Amino acid sequence: MRILERLERLYAIGGGPGANRPHPSAAEDEAHELAARWLEEAGLEVEVDPDGNLIGRADESPDVWVGSHLDSVPAGGRFDGALGVVAAIEAVERAGRGSVVAFRGEEVGCVGSRALVARGGPLPRAFLELHVEQGPVLAEAGLPLGVVTGIVGYAHGELVVEGRAGHAGTTPMDGRDDALVKAASEILRIRDVAVTVEGGVATVGRIEVEPGGVNVIPSRVRLSLDVRAPDTARLDALIEAIGFEATQRSEPVELGTGARAAVRGVVEEHGLEVVELPSGAGHDAGILAAAGVDAGMLFVRSLNGGISHSPDELSSPEDIELAVEVLTAALRCLAMSP
Ligand code: HGY
Ligand code: MN
Ligand code: MN
Repeated sequence: MRILERLERLYAIGGGPGANRPHPSAAEDEAHELAARWLEEAGLEVEVDPDGNLIGRADESPDVWVGSHLDSVPAGGRFDGALGVVAAIEAVERAGRGSVVAFRGEEVGCVGSRALVARGGPLPRAFLELHVEQGPVLAEAGLPLGVVTGIVGYAHGELVVEGRAGHAGTTPMDGRDDALVKAASEILRIRDVAVTVEGGVATVGRIEVEPGGVNVIPSRVRLSLDVRAPDTARLDALIEAIGFEATQRSEPVELGTGARAAVRGVVEEHGLEVVELPSGAGHDAGILAAAGVDAGMLFVRSLNGGISHSPDELSSPEDIELAVEVLTAALRCLAMSP
């Protein structure tokens, strides 16, 4: 199955364990170069836009875009982003219409799709993104595909915890102002706050300890924050309760009506039960939808309990083949609509 071979080729870039194609990096560039060759092999007109996004256009309906991203988190999975790009190439090639797009830097704030919107486009008439669900809902429902209703809002920022550096050997325990011990309490407080907001989540994914000597009591700790919620009110409540300044924020967004109806209709035509679900992950589709593009997303079942952002991320070849069929049919449907 060509799609799986291509996913393996992308997965091998950047060395293991897992996918390592951070933005910006030579590995992300290599993935874009490889995808550009596949676009040429598909007979598409290939362009790299001013922000490094890769686009491959068929002659017909080039204003209906299909794609995702090729960058990854550190030690990421085979499918996150890459599946959406490789599947888009299959769908545009099979349908003979539409445009494939691979956005830059989705994992670090949707850099490429935000830049496209900030630049004023060109914004497509419609956009479709196939993505692994990255959660357990479809597997628990025993279904291979799901129709995405919208994308949660999220905010990024940091908390800085101050202490006082000191000698690890000569400073008595009761005489310390240890920033890392205080940060540990902060992390537990953040978790307890998030649990009080229905549908809210908060993650400290990275901590930076200063000065960082093994024999020095930490004087300052920086905690990264990623908080998310299904609506603006709950996102605001989380940010306020945790008490930090959001340096990056994306509002919750409903996905496009036309594209969503096309995806839903094709899932029904395939005789599948339709499950509609929100995405707890951010996606380029959300950036385009917020900019007024008719954006739709199709989720394919994640196995292994829905794990993602991990080498254990897994979807089955059968589900992937079915997802590509549905994506292709949804592309045809949108390309034919006026
Ligand atoms: O963090 C996210 O939701 C996505 O994987 N960029
Ligand atoms: Mn992704
Ligand atoms: Mn991701």
